Amino acid sequence: MKKTTLLCVVCLGFFSALKAQNPTENLKLDTSKFQVQELTIDGKTIKVRAFENRMYVSNPVDTAYQKMNIYIPEAYFNNQTVNGYTAQTAPIFFPNKVGGYMPAKPATTKDNPMGMRPPINGEMPTMGNRPPEGLPPMRERMPSKPLTVVAALARGYVVASPGARGRTLKDQNGNFTGKAPAGIVDLKAAVRYLKFNDAVMPGDANKIISNGTSAGGAMSTLLGATGDAVDYEPFLKAIGAAKASDAIFAVSAYCPITNLEHADMAYEWQFDGINTYKKGGPFAKKDAQPQELTTDQIKVSQALKVLFPDYLNGLQLKDKKGVVLSLDKSGNGNFKTLVQSYVMASAQKALDSGVDLSEFPFVKVAQLKVVGIDYEAYVKFIGRQKTPPAFDALDLSSPETQLFGTATIDNQHFTAFSKANSTVTATTADDQLIKMMNPMHYIGVSGVATSKHWRIRHGSNDKDTGLAISIMLATLLENNNVQVDLALPWQKPHSGDYDLDELFQWIDGICK
Ligand code: DHB
Repeated sequence: MKKTTLLCVVCLGFFSALKAQNPTENLKLDTSKFQVQELTIDGKTIKVRAFENRMYVSNPVDTAYQKMNIYIPEAYFNNQTVNGYTAQTAPIFFPNKVGGYMPAKPATTKDNPMGMRPPINGEMPTMGNRPPEGLPPMRERMPSKPLTVVAALARGYVVASPGARGRTLKDQNGNFTGKAPAGIVDLKAAVRYLKFNDAVMPGDANKIISNGTSAGGAMSTLLGATGDAVDYEPFLKAIGAAKASDAIFAVSAYCPITNLEHADMAYEWQFDGINTYKKGGPFAKKDAQPQELTTDQIKVSQALKVLFPDYLNGLQLKDKKGVVLSLDKSGNGNFKTLVQSYVMASAQKALDSGVDLSEFPFVKVAQLKVVGIDYEAYVKFIGRQKTPPAFDALDLSSPETQLFGTATIDNQHFTAFSKANSTVTATTADDQLIKMMNPMHYIGVSGVATSKHWRIRHGSNDKDTGLAISIMLATLLENNNVQVDLALPWQKPHSGDYDLDELFQWIDGICK
């Protein structure tokens, strides 16, 4: 070894020893560095300070993703109020852009105008990009809507949007760096960063409200369910997260793709018997043709469907009157009635807002009241999108099998069923990691902080996961004395942020 090299190694050692002594020293938010941005929404201009690309861990694995954008209304630096909030009381809205369990960059105030969430298969193509072959132009696939970040700022919230690692990420050596639980660990580290910096920035870090859609909605539910859970501690330590709590105040989740190890059975409990499917999602071909399940797939559907009652019954969930929710062997029972009641409530809300329900013959209306639902006809109407097993694909082709890979294995099974019935040579994910990706395992567990306020929206036309997933989650929370506002907005497909005014009203309601 040359002398100079030796010197460098000694220096490096010295500096990393220093860093190890005080690993979170570099996690102080430098408030002297920012850009002023003028943003326009609804004809109104607002001024904000933008603190962009701030690394939220002191020992990053991926410097492109483990960073956060923080936007703060300028008013809070001038002792002014916005929407009744002050620099001390403003909630911190915490939207993630995670989609498809992919890596996600932090949201900005200038994201593409078609919504902030990238599609399932990866990053949103830039406006100038041609759509992948066979796909319609972006404009037709994603409706225009106001930018969530800008709308939240106009409402007086501080906005902090974290990036996070995801299932396809690799380091220079070709090792995977974003497999479970990397994404949720990153988001927790970002929460810790905000708490660590609470005193130096406007916004109340005790009022963090997470927001996300689909896989991002799942992340949002995990943040709310696993506050300060010790399971994540070694992972947070490894990336040099700030020493602070990672419990959050409130959860907003749209169509969370969660409870993955039970999602296959929940999907078949809902869709078994529907043997035609049409691939969907933002990157599905517009002219995707309906296809038929094979005989083998139909057998898989039936085998999964009968597993669901045992899982549901084991949860010992209770309805609002304290009656235990259950299903018999054929999948019928008061839990199914509960699911139907959520669909009926959705239809009633639509009816009350003037929607003509006569085009939905499966809804029974009498004297302006929704009095019943032909559930089987409703399920047929929304239709099947995925082949069984919907999440732990037997040939490891699904995004979730890639989420559960390791540093060196891209895809793994994560259910006993798919392991036993795999059509390829495959390994299985570690039980502890599967647990750490599922909020259901942490709710009501002592020593874990659960958010007090939850708002879950799962469109009544969503077929990316079963309705039971959001309903079981909400019921488990309610059974643990948590306030949950769950609704299945009428006719909404798999999507999010479509009702920002209502979302913000809910936030104001819990924060003021
Ligand atoms: C998403 C959608 C899916 O159908 C899925 O299986 C996982 C993630 C998403 O849109 O994020």
